[in-house]
Order: sequence, then C-alpha cells, then structure tokens
Amino acid sequence: MVLIEKIQNVFPRATDIPEPLLNGIPCIQTGYLVNGEIRVWEGSRQEVHSPVWVADDTDPKPFFIGEYPLLTEAEALQALDAAVAAYDHGRGLWPTLSVAERIDHMERFVFRMIEAKDLVVRFLMWEVGKSLQDSEKEFDRTIKYINDTLTALKDLDRISSRFTIEEGIIGQIRRAPLGVVLCMGPFNYPLNETFTTLIPALVMGNTVILKPPKHGALLYAPLLAAFCDVFPKGVINIIYGEGRKMIPPLMASGKVNVLGLIGTSKTANALKKQHPHPNRLRCVLGLEAKNPAIVLKGADLDLAVKECILGCLSFNGQRCTALKILFVEAAIVDEFLERFTAAVNALSFGMPWREGVFLTPVAEKGKADSLRELVSDAVAKGARVVNPAGATICGSFFFPAVLYPVHDKMRVYHEEQFGPVIPVLAFQKIDEPIEYMINSCYGQQVSIFGSDPGRIARLIDPLVNQVCRVNINCQCQRGPDTFPFTGRKDSAEGTLSVSDALRVFSIRTLVAAKQTELNKQIITCIVRDHKSKFLATDFIL
Ligand code: G3H
Repeated sequence: MVLIEKIQNVFPRATDIPEPLLNGIPCIQTGYLVNGEIRVWEGSRQEVHSPVWVADDTDPKPFFIGEYPLLTEAEALQALDAAVAAYDHGRGLWPTLSVAERIDHMERFVFRMIEAKDLVVRFLMWEVGKSLQDSEKEFDRTIKYINDTLTALKDLDRISSRFTIEEGIIGQIRRAPLGVVLCMGPFNYPLNETFTTLIPALVMGNTVILKPPKHGALLYAPLLAAFCDVFPKGVINIIYGEGRKMIPPLMASGKVNVLGLIGTSKTANALKKQHPHPNRLRCVLGLEAKNPAIVLKGADLDLAVKECILGCLSFNGQRCTALKILFVEAAIVDEFLERFTAAVNALSFGMPWREGVFLTPVAEKGKADSLRELVSDAVAKGARVVNPAGATICGSFFFPAVLYPVHDKMRVYHEEQFGPVIPVLAFQKIDEPIEYMINSCYGQQVSIFGSDPGRIARLIDPLVNQVCRVNINCQCQRGPDTFPFTGRKDSAEGTLSVSDALRVFSIRTLVAAKQTELNKQIITCIVRDHKSKFLATDFIL
C-alpha cells in the first residue's frame, strides 16, 4: 500500500482493539477529592473521546472513553477553603509535620500509586494517544522523580539539621512551605509534568488544589483513593472542570500563594492578573517554546537527522522542548532535506498500542485542521511541503509536513506549532539563526549540530545568554530530571529539577539567637527534649 493510502486507513475497527486495553473503558468518573473525602458529583459531566478514532463500517469517529465531572465555581471554592484550612496559616498538621513524617506519607503514596499503574498507563494512552510504551515510560519516570525528590529532600534536611554560629549569633536555617498551591499540568505529560510541581509542593508542606488537564483527567481516577487515604484532609484536593470557569475565582480570592502551571503564557498572564496581591503570589511556570536546531556544515548528518527526527516528532511534536524550527547551513540544506524527508517517510505510525509505533494521532480536538492551516499559510507564502505525503490527514491523524523554504512572513516561523509540522530554513550567515533567537518571544533551548569545536564554541557563548540549555549534537529535552529545566522570556518562570523544585515551592526561614548563656540553655533544652520540629538536630538516616 502506498504511504497516503496507509495514512487514510490508519484507524482500526473496534474489533481490532486488543481486548485487555479496553479494561476500565469507558471510565465514568464521578468522584472528586475535597477536604479528605471523595465526593460524588451528580451534575453534568464532560464526555471524553480518545484521539484514537474507530472506523467500523462508516468513516472513522472519535472513540468514547469516559466522562469526568464538570464542577462549578462553588466546588472549586470548597476545595480552596479545604486547602486554606489544612494550611491554617502554617499552623495546620501538614505544614508542621517533620520532614521525615512527610516523607513517610509520600512513600506510602508511591506504594499505592504503583498498584494503580496498569490503569493509569492505559488511560494515559487512550486520553492523549501516547504510545503504550511511552505512557509506561511516563509513569516510571514519575515514580523515579518522586523517589529522587525524597532523596534530595533528605539531603536538604540533613544539611539543615545543624546550627550555624556567625558573629555571635546562633542560627538554624531551614526551608518552610509557602501556603496554598494551585497545580495545573499540561495534556502532553498529564501525569509527569503535573507531578513535577505537585510532589515537591506537597512534600515541602504546602497544601494543594490540583486541576488535571482537559486531556489526561481520567488517569487521575485510579489515584484518587490513594491521595484520599494517604494525606491528611484538605492537604490535596482534586477538582475537575472547565479551567476558565473554575480557576479565575480561586485566583481572585487572593488565597492562592503559588501558581504551579505548565501551560501557555496566555493562561499564566490572565491568571496572574486575577490575583489581588501580586506580591503574595509566587509563580512556577513552564510555558511555550520555539526551540531551534542549527545544523552546521560538517555535521554528522546521520546523527543530525536522527536527533532532529526525535526532536521534531517524538510524541508527534507535542512537547514544549520539541525542535520547532530547523536552520540548516545553505551548503548542506539539499542533502539534509533529502535524508530528513526519507527518515520521515520511513517512520512507523499507527495506533498507540502497536509495538514500536512512533507517530500516533494528535491529542487535541481540531488540531489536525489547525496544523493544516499553518501549512497552507506557509505554502501560500512560498514554502513547499517537501515530503509528498506531508500534511495528509485522516481524522485526528496528521502525517508530518516538512516545509521549505520558510521565512519570517509565515506564521509557522513565529508560532509554536506543537505538532508534526517542521519548518526548515537555509542560512548563509550564522547571524541569521542567532538573530532569530534574539527576536523570538521564547528562550528555552537550542540544539547545535556540527563537528568543528571552534565554530561550536563561538555559538555556545552568545547562545547560553539567549536560552537555558544549549544541546550539542543532540535534540532538546528536559531530562535528566536532576538537570535544571527552565527558560527565558515567555518560556518559563522559576527553575524545575528534582532539587530546584524543592526550593521554588518553599522559602528559607530561620531561628536566630544571640550566643548568651540563657539562649544556649533554651536552645539546648528545646533540642534535647524534642520540643520543636523546626529547631531540631534530628538527622534523617
Ligand atoms: O513538554 C515539555 C516537557 O517538559 C518535555 O519533556 O523533553 O522530557 O519530553 P521531555
């Protein structure tokens, strides 16, 4: 079958779906978690359809996989009240527990989470169309992230479990929670990226309201009971519904102390403005990016093509870290395009459960059409789709389109496509990609492909001041999770990594006393008799 024909027949019939993958589908989710109880919602619900469409005897149609509650502002405010009460101005049970006790809760949660793995992974695959293999990887990466976070927190606590004496003053410095955290994650990593803010926020002693993303909400259903059983009431509240209705009232209350959002700068800006006391709001944001690749003459083209394929098209380009524009030195652009399009044509595509599948349907409703518009705009302004099957659509499946030559009058030059469209430009002078990055609204990462150490070095120094990670002969990516993940301009606020996240969701605070006999006696008595959890020298082993 020729490629275009294969694309047009990409979707399965219901009978082709492996039976075990249908366990738990459809998931009619009615519960939500507020103040330590799973409440049953009897109001309206959001229908959830998978990006996987099913063909049967008619044209393919979106496959119904479940429903989740469409809560209202009233329930969102109840969740806020529960989180505020559990924090109780820092006097609540959770913010005053010792670090060791909070770690103990989290370890129990990990145990329960692992028990729910199969269902979470399956829902993840169905909800966002991520391959089964990558859905499992996302789950395992999240478990590792939690365990690494607990290890990092133990280290942090060990360092803080001693006194410092400076200029006749005895001090004990620790990190303390900030208050109520509102956590919202993205659809592309609905579990992992949400948890990279949720877990550090919780374990540092904050209380949390979590709203799962629109695509990637059902996968929280198997975790609700674990959250409910393990954490004290009100510490974690999970609400579902339309963000634009539920979230502004939370921000307008002025009671949210930290906004942890992985999403768009438009949402972040709108939410920040709702808060009546901007100085009392800390923002931890992971936002859009338009990471370029710069392919230099002399680069190992096999390697560059392989990494650009991964960078542009892993999870169909639906990653904030994806390579979203390729600058190729003019002398090698023809050869690069030839090899690159051959590699695109050879990619395996199909349903997310297929062994080794790489390209799958795109997650958002209407996304294939919006990608087609982006391609049409570029074509109308002089680009061509270099690969003949590029931009072929079947329902929610969009075959990657390689666009060349792209220029600054085209939308795809500036806009984050967040999907399988790959704009390519040829450059004569190295200033061209550098100017692009200077003028870009975004500043997350860049990839440089080349072999000349001198040329690469001359790019590193200006580019580290434009973005927050320069990758050499490698795609852009977030991991390893111990590395700092952040961005400049509209790409991020705050730094996330296993250890940095513990810092962004907490503040340094200390107890200090002049080194007098009386003070020494007081401190010794408090420490010896374990009268305080903060002023203590307990060492977590
Ligand atoms: O969507 C943005 C993610 O943080 C990307 O993470 O580079 O591991 O795919 P990744």
